[in-house]
Amino acid sequence: MFALASDNPAEVRRVLESGEAGPNDAVGPQSALAFTLASTQLTHRTEMVKLLLAYGADPSALAEHARARPGSRMSRASLESVLRDESNPMSSILEDMDPATRYWLARAEAPQTRRTSALIHRSFFRPLARVRYDLIGQDRVLEQLFRVLSMPSMAPIVVLLCGPSGHGKSLLARKFGSLLDVPTHTVNMTTLRSTHDIWRSYSMNPYEAPSTCTLGEFLIEQEGKRCVVVLDEIEKVEDEKMLSSLLMPWELGRCSFEAGHRHVDVSQVVWLATSNIGHDLVFEHQRERQVPEAPLSREEYVDLMGLLRPRVSERLGPSLLSRVTTVLPFAPFTKEEKLAIAAEALYALAADVVRTMTPATIDSMVRKSLDAYLPAEGARSLYRAVSTQLLDAV
Ligand SMILES: Nc1ncnc2c1ncn2[C@@H]1O[C@H](COP(=O)(O)OP(=O)(O)OP(=O)(O)O)[C@@H](O)[C@H]1O
Ligand SMILES: [Mg+2]
Repeated sequence: MFALASDNPAEVRRVLESGEAGPNDAVGPQSALAFTLASTQLTHRTEMVKLLLAYGADPSALAEHARARPGSRMSRASLESVLRDESNPMSSILEDMDPATRYWLARAEAPQTRRTSALIHRSFFRPLARVRYDLIGQDRVLEQLFRVLSMPSMAPIVVLLCGPSGHGKSLLARKFGSLLDVPTHTVNMTTLRSTHDIWRSYSMNPYEAPSTCTLGEFLIEQEGKRCVVVLDEIEKVEDEKMLSSLLMPWELGRCSFEAGHRHVDVSQVVWLATSNIGHDLVFEHQRERQVPEAPLSREEYVDLMGLLRPRVSERLGPSLLSRVTTVLPFAPFTKEEKLAIAAEALYALAADVVRTMTPATIDSMVRKSLDAYLPAEGARSLYRAVSTQLLDAV
């Protein structure tokens, strides 16, 4: 309770991570989740709600909270039924909730969320299930990713994240290593000028201090251990021949950085590459869907993956692609997802200003920003729209 009341997400994370407190512990008469949702004065409320959910807080406790009177039956109830239940004090709080918090609560409740997380439940990759509270939408991407990660395989894991700008490819790549708590090295592929530059490149992560070691040094340091290498914007490499350095590590799990040097064991590296290849295909596929607003079904996603693979092969060459474990297209956002992204943008850009706004003002700003949505720019167009509106409001 102290961590929550102090409005400090880092401390909440630490407490949950260390197991000092559980996500479903009671805070006074209510659950930690109900307490946080009701604490409307907290600046970092949404972030802490996400953390609680990511660590396993059960939203059905919101219904129980009102019903936990002596003699009354505890019932599992969905958010919808809490909203309808006017005798539940949570109902008016949930009513006023911003679209992002609403989205995260609904996501935690969805059976699809549980099924997908179960795929990696027993594996080393289990902490990745929490990425569902970083990434809005892209459920099918995560489902396919978790399937691949749960399969026993001798070959190195190579995942290609493809599709339109601003849909969360780099975001997912960035969170991957941090959730698993393994080191990550990010190579910006646009900067390479010759074949061996890849091993000489420093990590470029805007959220970390500039790295002082090259990819080659990183891989020697991490030899035989789990780690992540992100190859950002792989198709924008000056000359695709430079990618040939990846053939051996992706096939054999070993590589040599220069002729005459010993081989380094890189079999435990997870390689994540991002690219915009096939972004037009993603939108074409979307236009041809029967119900474009509905979330993608597994069948539709498999279909889209099938369309994308030849396109990637054309661009990066079949010999490289044949060593890629899976190619994951990122899908267009639904309206709910856009609303959630816009609300997150509002908090990310000006949490202290937003705290003083009424729920109606927040809602109207979020909805208005959707008018400026550009599919080809994805979430970035919503961040821009929200920031323009904030400027006008302030
Ligand atoms: N699915 C998402 N959920 C939440 N936020 C997102 C999502 N996609 C994008 N964003 C927001 O937009 C920003 C840009 O997204 P990101 O860097 O992941 O785009 P990208 O898909 O890698 O695009 P590009 O192809 O242009 O590199 C992120 O930092 C995040 O704030
Ligand atoms: Mg990117």
